[in-house]
Amino acid sequence: MAILQIRTYPDEVLKKRACEIENIDGAIARLAKDMLETMYEAPGIGLAAPQVGESIRLIVFDVSHKEEKPEPHILVNPVITATEGEEVMEEGCLSVPGIYAKVKRPAKVEVKGYDLDGNEVVMQAEGLLARVILHEVDHLDGYVFLDRLSRVRRQMALKKYLKSVKS
Ligand code: NI
Repeated sequence: MAILQIRTYPDEVLKKRACEIENIDGAIARLAKDMLETMYEAPGIGLAAPQVGESIRLIVFDVSHKEEKPEPHILVNPVITATEGEEVMEEGCLSVPGIYAKVKRPAKVEVKGYDLDGNEVVMQAEGLLARVILHEVDHLDGYVFLDRLSRVRRQMALKKYLKSVKS
């Protein structure tokens, strides 16, 4: 396994729509495991393949507490199939280090995708788990959480971020 380099905003790979994965082969399995290792090391609770420079539809996440047993999830070609409600939660992103902002998103979500064996997986989630799934699927569509803010709040957050990157 290997720790991968995390791309940071405004890297172009973060703004592109990622491609569907056609074959879940050994290379995809290796990448997923490296992504999990990279995420734990960062540390973070979710990571999407574009964040490590691979423009393909693959996400990993684990919202278990540090004291608990790890609960790693890997989803290939995830699709949000239902959402419900609304919730405001503070988010950050390994690709936008140092910036946190309250983001409004659906409170509950159903996501379909595939595991590394090619089996279909359906997950219903709420709370932090729903939040991380929506955040990571956004990465596959070329969005970072800043894109979910109002124009004014987005500009303020971007200004702060770009200033922190320069210094
Ligand atoms: Ni992120």
